[in-house]
Amino acid sequence: MADQEQNTTSRDYHLEIPFRNQPFGLKGCNALDWGMQNRLSRIFSPQTGRTVMLAVDHGYFLGPTSGLERIDVNIVPLLPFADTLMCTRGVLRSTIPPTFGQGVVLRASGGPSILKELSNEEVALSMEDALRLNAAAVAVQVFVGGEFETKSIHNMTRLVDAGLRYGVPVLGVTAVGKELVRDAQYLRLATRICAELGAAYVKTYFCEEGFETVTASCPVPIVIAGGKKLPEEEALNMAHAAVQQGAAGVDMGRNIFQSQAPLAMIQAVRAVVHDHMKPKQAFEMFQDLAGISRKAPAKPRSTPKKVPAPRKG
Ligand code: R5P
Repeated sequence: MADQEQNTTSRDYHLEIPFRNQPFGLKGCNALDWGMQNRLSRIFSPQTGRTVMLAVDHGYFLGPTSGLERIDVNIVPLLPFADTLMCTRGVLRSTIPPTFGQGVVLRASGGPSILKELSNEEVALSMEDALRLNAAAVAVQVFVGGEFETKSIHNMTRLVDAGLRYGVPVLGVTAVGKELVRDAQYLRLATRICAELGAAYVKTYFCEEGFETVTASCPVPIVIAGGKKLPEEEALNMAHAAVQQGAAGVDMGRNIFQSQAPLAMIQAVRAVVHDHMKPKQAFEMFQDLAGISRKAPAKPRSTPKKVPAPRKG
């Protein structure tokens, strides 16, 4: 037992200092329970309020996607540079070292493969297993406008209810079928529905026009998906524009693991997201880290002068 006598005489109660309440800075998350906020702090850096999520969950409907054939070889070396890993429980248990200390966001919906109607998903993970795996959040696909729209939204609200019971945040992932246009009007609708129905944060796509209205009208943080592989400079431009227009980071997969130099790319993305590095500078950083020589900008070619045809006769 601690020595009671010593304790009573040596305590300083700082009676002159009012109790310090530290507000939780993440957008729209102030009223969440301590466990939720703690988990979100494993996703969003408490220093910058933003995140670089490395998304490697594509196999849940695509199988061994290019770049993810060997997660142990291609992805594990990238982990030190990810604030958060987004993956399935199968990959987590089989391949990710349990010493990984950052947040893990577990894919919690699934069912149809790429060969079938994708919006026909079910909940594919129990909250008990998410807790067993020490997940920082669970992610569920929401198909606003899709064939199974209501079912996918119901998947999300069931997970939100279970998550609230145990303090596990839910990431609503807005999935856009081929037939829908990814413009600001659609993205505002889809992200707002996720937030209104209880997602702690939302993943969506970037759009060139009006993305700031998508982040402004969503009361919780938005992260952008990387989408299909782009040239590295374009992907860095997109991440920069998204963060400048209010995104709280990226949940990026193919534009990192399908890059010609994934280790260099994830570090350049970090610089854009956390340090507000300009995309041009970040691209140079990528080239330097990748050992790619920076080419001098090509000089505009002078148009060859037309040589008049020799006169006949
Ligand atoms: C879909 O396969 C997953 O939700 C991905 O995590 C998401 O699309 C992000 O990955 P990417 O940046 O490759 O689009």
